[in-house]
Amino acid sequence: MMDGTPKAFDVALTMDETQPRVLDRMAQGLLGTAMDRPDGPLKVTGTAPYAAEHSVDGLATGFLVRATITRGRVAHVNVEGAMALDGVLAVFTGDPLLRNPAQGTAAEAPEQVLPEVHYLGQPIALVVAETFEQARHAAQTLDLTYDAEEGADVDPATATETETPKGKRLDQGDLAAAMEVAAHSVDTRYTTPGHSSAPMEPHASVAQWIDGRLELHGAYQMLKYNVAELADALGVDESAVRIHAPYVGGGFGSKLGIAPEAVAAAHAARELDRPVRVVLTRDQVFEMTMRRSETVQRLRLACNGEGHLTALGHEDRVSNLPDEGFAEPTAQGTHFLYGGENRFFEQTVARVHRSCAGSVRAPGEAVGMIALECAMDELAEAAGLDPIDLRLRNIPDTHPEDDLPYSERGLARCLTEGAERFGWSGRGAPASRLEGDWWVGMGVASAVRTNILGESKARVTLRPDGTALCETDMTDIGTGTYAILTQIVGEMLGLPRDRIEVALGDSDLPKSSGSGGSWGAQSCGSAVFLAAKGIRNALAEAAGVAEDDLTLKDGFATGGNTRRPLSDLITDPIVCEGHVQPGDTSDDFSIAGYGAHFAEVGVHRDTGEVRVRRMLGVFSIGRVLNHKTAVSQCHGGMIWGIGSALTEELMHDRSDGRIVNHNLAEYHVPVSLDVPQLDALLLEDTRDDEANPIQAKGIGELGISGAAGAIGNAIYNACGVRVRDFPATPDKVF
Ligand code: MOS
Repeated sequence: MMDGTPKAFDVALTMDETQPRVLDRMAQGLLGTAMDRPDGPLKVTGTAPYAAEHSVDGLATGFLVRATITRGRVAHVNVEGAMALDGVLAVFTGDPLLRNPAQGTAAEAPEQVLPEVHYLGQPIALVVAETFEQARHAAQTLDLTYDAEEGADVDPATATETETPKGKRLDQGDLAAAMEVAAHSVDTRYTTPGHSSAPMEPHASVAQWIDGRLELHGAYQMLKYNVAELADALGVDESAVRIHAPYVGGGFGSKLGIAPEAVAAAHAARELDRPVRVVLTRDQVFEMTMRRSETVQRLRLACNGEGHLTALGHEDRVSNLPDEGFAEPTAQGTHFLYGGENRFFEQTVARVHRSCAGSVRAPGEAVGMIALECAMDELAEAAGLDPIDLRLRNIPDTHPEDDLPYSERGLARCLTEGAERFGWSGRGAPASRLEGDWWVGMGVASAVRTNILGESKARVTLRPDGTALCETDMTDIGTGTYAILTQIVGEMLGLPRDRIEVALGDSDLPKSSGSGGSWGAQSCGSAVFLAAKGIRNALAEAAGVAEDDLTLKDGFATGGNTRRPLSDLITDPIVCEGHVQPGDTSDDFSIAGYGAHFAEVGVHRDTGEVRVRRMLGVFSIGRVLNHKTAVSQCHGGMIWGIGSALTEELMHDRSDGRIVNHNLAEYHVPVSLDVPQLDALLLEDTRDDEANPIQAKGIGELGISGAAGAIGNAIYNACGVRVRDFPATPDKVF
């Protein structure tokens, strides 16, 4: 028995200690199963509290005012006029309150000046009133004047200011010469439009200052970063900011960083000394949060007579506001997916006065893989090879640019097992299968998504009554975090799911990676695993057996010849904190998730309408933590793939750059009728020993990466029309 004092450990296990694949010798049988989400019943009954629903006494409401010019400065705001309206409490305007991130930090620009306008739709003021209707009315009638600058660049194609960011050019070998002498080559150009993240839950914040500390209920993905951003915007210490985000209704990148409503609500609540709620309207979500940049991509591919790539070039042009650091990493996956000695990459960023570009659903691969995978289809045809065959011939042995070895990589298996399951051998020549009024065809594409580990901490407490608590500031943005962390704890400590509580989404808890870039489950899950491993070690010590010989199942510990309930081993709670950070894992491998997408489409022979008939995605992502939530993530990604292939497109007014279709009626995300039966197959026997202590890789974004390419290729196979400007709306098909 352990002595009476609660025991706390900071667990710092090395990767080597976890290499025997600790999780594979556990006995509970919970991890990897299709366990239901613990938070599911709360969500489907509408009782899970989302940010905007947080209710406090004396709540005032703020409504943001959007700029109606493209570029210039606010010259005057008639605050008195607005204040005279019923219920209006305050009008806030000016930098740094609602500043553009490009203008620097609050510390760099502390003076309160009327805001500069960088794009149409930018938040420039906040009106706070007793009720939502009063705030909205005052905001929409706010009398203000501008000093507008004429002639702002709003079109990336003609923008005068362009640059190539550092590190976004690679010239290896001689691509032009290799193209010249190649047996087969393609030099082709694809375009993809801007995308909106389009989360179901609009951005919302309820801010309240209690004893000089901000308590903000918001919808955010990465709390430790969001605390830092908010503290900076408000000019306070990070310790004076606490964010609560226990439930988040989708993020898709738009809630990675703090959005204007949080700064506005926090600032107003402090100034007015009462709680303030600000919720973005749907059109404000489109305009005031990040968009994905449109891209123009040139692909140059060449191969020899055996179908081996000799040259691979991927150039892209994207856009963002002047001085913004983010540029859609279009060619990210192209660097390591296929071989080819002669390589050329170059990115151009056009500076335009459109809304800010940032991370949206698999930044990089989601759109880069559309062009790469369609171009591979073009090359396969030029070389007279089956597209799967061409891909299989070009899986490199080591990273083609830095020679790093790959960690677990199931690309070949995904392609071949997927082909078998999908019935790929039944695919015919382009425009050879007419069924009624529909041309039917099949397409394939590889899937790849960079894998990233983010620093994460988590605390696990095991109580003598055999219940456990897992705490971290990690978020569940609909992805299934509550479920997978329950499973990791249950598996490691031998507890059934109903004896485990998982607390998330509070920035006062141990700081995790947060949710983004497909790193959440593996990073935060690894921290939880390490904490639980520490508890196992302590239990083994208490039981007097080696950890390897300890079996924990259903609240009982078996070791040596004895089987005892946990309450026999401990009299006080054991608390362990797990900590994982990128340096803990190897830098000596190229680590990514892989997969293959298969699509069958029908193209209407008169209208050019495309319907996806069925889709299969096969994915290799190391250990699967929860079969159901993992498959769900794949389905979500594939559905976004249908969107980017066929319907999604941000449209900007050519004269002023405004987003014209800033609502879900005119910006078309796929609905149920657009989505056929989806089949997602996971290679569940794979483990990636290099990725992290739990041998799992990200899956959130792999499902979209390549999916639209498979649909584009299926359209070509169906009707013989190669669509190179996405989305493939009927006007582009025929
Ligand atoms: Mo993501 S686009 O990193 O939420």
